[in-house]
Amino acid sequence: ARRSFSYLVTGVTGKNMTFKWRGKPLFVRHRTEKEIAAEGVNLAELRDPQHDKDRVINPRWVIVLGVCTHLGCVPIANAGDFGGYYCPCHGSHYDASGRIRKGPAPLNLEVPFYEFTEDIVIVG
Ligand code: FES
Repeated sequence: ARRSFSYLVTGVTGKNMTFKWRGKPLFVRHRTEKEIAAEGVNLAELRDPQHDKDRVINPRWVIVLGVCTHLGCVPIANAGDFGGYYCPCHGSHYDASGRIRKGPAPLNLEVPFYEFTEDIVIVG
């Protein structure tokens, strides 16, 4: 795991990587400046209102569980109408902050507890 996360820090922006964590998929996304800028949306537009800044430690990195909050399918990264994640099971669209924007899912993708050390992401 350590080697994988070290790779991430030097990884290309705009990529999402999937790891397995506690038996669940964990998405780690290295966002571009454009993606970060696009996430400053009006909270009134959101089904599960959360500011992007309250979902990240460093805006360049989004770390969420890859489990759709509808019925638990694994969404597809870099897909859907909001450029984040798309769940093909029943059509839920998430943005690049992992927030639900369209479709049946009730909640945003869950942000697990994590912290950054010098060059390694740790998920606790
Ligand atoms: Fe994702 Fe239903 S499980 S939309």
